[in-house]
Amino acid sequence: SSVTVHAPATIANLVCGFDVLGLALNDPYDVMKLSISETPGIRIQHNDVYNLPTIPEQNVAGVSLLEMMQELDSHYGFDLVIEKHIKPGSGLGSSAASAAGVVVAANHLLGNIFSKEDLVRFAMAGEKLASGVKHADNISPGIYGGITLIRSIFPLDIVSLTAPPMYVAVVHPQIEVKTSDAREILRKEVLLKDAIKQWGNIAGLVAGFMKNDYGLISRSLEDVIIEPVRSMLIPGFDDVKKKSVDAGALGGGISGSGPSIFMLCEEKNTALKVEKIMKDIYDNTGLKYHTYVTTIN
Ligand code: HSE
Repeated sequence: SSVTVHAPATIANLVCGFDVLGLALNDPYDVMKLSISETPGIRIQHNDVYNLPTIPEQNVAGVSLLEMMQELDSHYGFDLVIEKHIKPGSGLGSSAASAAGVVVAANHLLGNIFSKEDLVRFAMAGEKLASGVKHADNISPGIYGGITLIRSIFPLDIVSLTAPPMYVAVVHPQIEVKTSDAREILRKEVLLKDAIKQWGNIAGLVAGFMKNDYGLISRSLEDVIIEPVRSMLIPGFDDVKKKSVDAGALGGGISGSGPSIFMLCEEKNTALKVEKIMKDIYDNTGLKYHTYVTTIN
């Protein structure tokens, strides 16, 4: 038997929540078809646009599936066909989509024997292969849907958050920012006064989501620790952010470790205006880019 899943793009951090907050988008997504077979082993095929490895031990989806198979006593095999639409290195959780999608699909074929938390654990092995560190802020929303808080990763403690309807405008400028580099440049120490601002904002953002308070969400979308360092890697960042907020966006910032930039909006019209702003700015830079206007999955 086989199953086809849509593995969504995700936005990690949500500005102030470095490594602890993330949300799933409706668009873009990867399409993954997984079949279970009597022939042991994992065979991977993909649409080959991004030159991804197909050897299971070197492939994010393959590694996640292997991690899951260690906890199965039976000797199933799997055939996986990946149609990749989320570009690797975009900051939109491309590797997390492969990792999350495959374990969700396999669990379905196995009769849902694993919990969502188990699935996050398996998929983190794949994410580690991709970025060198285990973080779950892209994988968790990919598996749970919506917006998630990772209160702790060792031990795993994942909380699904409710939120009012929001539109998301995203621009992906085609420059390469490696997550490992974008982590390397961060300062390892934080001033207490910055930490106080940051945890005020994280708490405010979570409360704003849960209370459907757009004003509180907007005020809390501020990052005094990571963004000032990372935004230097993204041409046009300050301009996009300022003009989007002037046009009525609630706020936004770097998607994951970049280079994509996202803006949350209360109204679809505002999101479309923001998309136009993004296009105008990136047309001027001469960089290639993609934009999306979408909603939270
Ligand atoms: N939280 C991680 C980071 C996400 O910002 O480095 C990477 O996609």
